[in-house]
Amino acid sequence: MKAAYRDNPQAIRALVKPDRVHRDLYISPEVFELERQHFFANTWNYLGHDSQLPNPGDFITVELAGRPLLVVRQRDRSVRVLMNRCAHKGAQLTQEACGSAGKYFRCPYHAWVFHIDGSIQSIPLKKGYEGTALNECETAKGLAVVQDVAVYRGFIFAKLNPGGPDFTSYFGDSLSSIDNMADRSPVGELEVVGPPLRFTHNCNWKMFVENLNDTMHPMVAHESSAGTAKAMWAGQPADQPKPMAVEQFVPFMSDYRFFDEMGIRVFDNGHSYTGVNFSIHSKYSSIPEYEAAMTAAYGEERARAIIAQARHNTVYYPNLTIKGAIQSIRVARPLAVDKTVVESWIFRLKGAPEVLLQRTAMYNRLINSPFSVVGHDDLYAYRAIQVGLQGDGNDWISLHRNYDPRETTAHDQITNGTNELPIRNQYRAWAQYMTASM
Ligand code: FES
Ligand SMILES: [Fe+2]
Repeated sequence: MKAAYRDNPQAIRALVKPDRVHRDLYISPEVFELERQHFFANTWNYLGHDSQLPNPGDFITVELAGRPLLVVRQRDRSVRVLMNRCAHKGAQLTQEACGSAGKYFRCPYHAWVFHIDGSIQSIPLKKGYEGTALNECETAKGLAVVQDVAVYRGFIFAKLNPGGPDFTSYFGDSLSSIDNMADRSPVGELEVVGPPLRFTHNCNWKMFVENLNDTMHPMVAHESSAGTAKAMWAGQPADQPKPMAVEQFVPFMSDYRFFDEMGIRVFDNGHSYTGVNFSIHSKYSSIPEYEAAMTAAYGEERARAIIAQARHNTVYYPNLTIKGAIQSIRVARPLAVDKTVVESWIFRLKGAPEVLLQRTAMYNRLINSPFSVVGHDDLYAYRAIQVGLQGDGNDWISLHRNYDPRETTAHDQITNGTNELPIRNQYRAWAQYMTASM
């Protein structure tokens, strides 16, 4: 099927059926361009973390669906998101990934200077504008400001287009996964450690995002990596302490029943998490000094409840996925219809022993990094799909597993862990936010 999708919300909606989706979602450059224009502008997307901006004037630069953004700490401690586009002729004010502007951004082209809130501080040879209509046009307002910004437990999100759901109603109780991740710190705070690991995936961004709650693949796709670790460890006495790497690799080889009983919770707007009852992180060895610090901070019962909540992956649709139990996040940065950079960031639990950070860094390197043996299993599958979908004769991708014809939107629902409901739910949200501004 070849359809012109531009200005054609009906053709877009026809790509998503309740139990299957059309291959153009993954392979059409036109659909990808429309996603950049509409979908990513209508949804709440993760930009960065509070701890990257300790002082007023500190900034990070982020690209969101082709828009260059500046995320800047203000003097009143709030966070402002500005277009990284000079009000004069459009030059980016900085191309650094992060830094401090001090009090001002100064454009490298003609030296217009902007306050850190985006307003104009000075223009060289300003007399030249006397008698012109400069003050009546957009330029005089300074840098364009993104109005919808929210900071939740240190996680900074923005929505580019006005209208649509506010932050709290967009994410609903899926925010409990961020709560759990932050609560794992005895002082309730997280801190980004180091730059992220960047891993280029030659596939459409949606393959990565839907994989996070796809529980039917680990025991198959990861057999060569995790299965090898399991075979190497086989025959060790049960009381033999496991090396950290074995502890992290082996659970990927759990059977279908394990993943089914793990459970999935699904929310409106495409969000979901695996590991309602337990997860591949549940059996990590205990760290007595950490547990003592948590008990001192929260009391025994609450500390135990926080640590026991070992959710697997939470998808904050569309661009953020987190693993609270291991304090790492992955951010999808779509570059082209068949190219996505996945950034893996790790966090220190403030007030927790350093061994927690070692465990997090180990996990990130073993599972998520470009050097990972597990990550390449997934990448191999994504690339195989990206190429395989060019095959004619079947335009559709099946999402039928456990589909119930009475199913509409998810609201807040717990179901069996191998149900494809979270993926169907993502595509319902996709169709809604893709067409909302068409
Ligand atoms: S483009 Fe920035 S000062 Fe001219
Ligand atoms: Fe995987």
